[in-house]
Amino acid sequence: MFATAYAHTNIALVKYWGKRDDGGRSLNLPAVGSLSLTLDRFGTETTVELSQDAQGDSLVLDGTPRAGAELARVSAFLDRVRGLAKERRYASVTSRNDVPTAAGLASSASAFCALALAATRAFGLTLDDRELSKLARQGSGSAARSTYGGFVLLHRGERDDGADCFAEPLQTALDARLVVVRCGSGPKEVGSTSGMGHAQRTSPYFPAWVETHARDLDDARAALAAADLEKLGEVMEHSTLKMHATTFSARPAFFYWTPTTLEALARVRALRAGGTGAWATMDAGPHVKVLCAPADAARVAAALGEVPGVFGVDVAGPGPGARVLGSGA
Ligand code: PMV
Repeated sequence: MFATAYAHTNIALVKYWGKRDDGGRSLNLPAVGSLSLTLDRFGTETTVELSQDAQGDSLVLDGTPRAGAELARVSAFLDRVRGLAKERRYASVTSRNDVPTAAGLASSASAFCALALAATRAFGLTLDDRELSKLARQGSGSAARSTYGGFVLLHRGERDDGADCFAEPLQTALDARLVVVRCGSGPKEVGSTSGMGHAQRTSPYFPAWVETHARDLDDARAALAAADLEKLGEVMEHSTLKMHATTFSARPAFFYWTPTTLEALARVRALRAGGTGAWATMDAGPHVKVLCAPADAARVAAALGEVPGVFGVDVAGPGPGARVLGSGA
C-alpha cells in the first residue's frame, strides 16, 4: 500500500508560540490559538509506502536518506498513525520540499501535514479534515493549519486530551498577498520547538504574551469578517513583535533576526509612511513576510527586493488545503 499527498505551507498572522500542559501525553497542545494563511506556493509532497519485511521506518528527504533525529521524529509520528490503524508495519517515507534551494523556508507545517495525510491513507484510514488537523498538530503545531486552504484558525482548546484543539477554515471576502522576503540562508540556529520552550521557561514577558493573545485573535477574526486589510495587518505586526520580544527577553536571549531583517522591517515602515498598505511578520528565522493588497504586491516586492542583503522575493497568494495525489496497492 502506498499514498502520496501534497500540502502547502502556511504563515501565521497571529502566532502560535508556546505549549500548554497535556499531563505528559505528548499531544503537542499550543498555549495559544493561531490564525494563518495557507499559501499557493511552497509545500511538501510526501509518499508513504508500507513494507511487509522492513525492520524499521526509512526517510528520504529531498533525495537524501536521513537518519538520526529527523528519522526519529518521523518514526514517532508514524507510531501515532500505526496506533490509530492498529497496524505494525513499517513505512518508507519519501518527501520533497518545494521551496527555493537553501531559502531556509522549508517548514514543518507542510511537511507534517503531507505526512499525516499520506500516512493515514497508506494505512487505510480516511480521517475527516478536523481529525486530520488534530493528527498533523501532533507532528508540528503549525501543520494542523495546512489541512485547509486560505485563512485558517487553530483553536487553542481547553481539554487535556486535545479533542477541542483543531483547525478550521475562516470565510472572508478579503483577498491578500504575502510577499516572502528571504533575509538569510542556511539552517536556523534555534528551532521553533526549543525556541518557544526556552522563551516560555525564562522570559518574564511570556505570561503577558499568553494573556493578551485572545484579544489579538478576536481582532484578526473581526478584521477578516470586515475584509479590513489594515486592521488585519496591524494586529499581525503586533502579534509577531510580541512573540519576538519573548526571545529578546529570554535568559539567555536569542534572536531570529539578522541586520537584513531589520532593514526589511524599516522598508515596510517606509512603504507605509508613503501610503502603501504593508505589514510584516517573522517566524522562527530571519525572513520577513509582508502582507499587502493584491494590487500593491508587485510594488512591495520590488521595494523589498532592493534592500541590501535580501537575496530573493516571492509573491504568494491564498492557496488550497492538503490533498491526496495518488494511492494504490
Ligand atoms: O509548528 P512549529 O512547531 O514549527 O511552530 C511554529 C512557530 C511559528 O512559526 C513561529 C509560529 C506559527 O504559528 O507558525
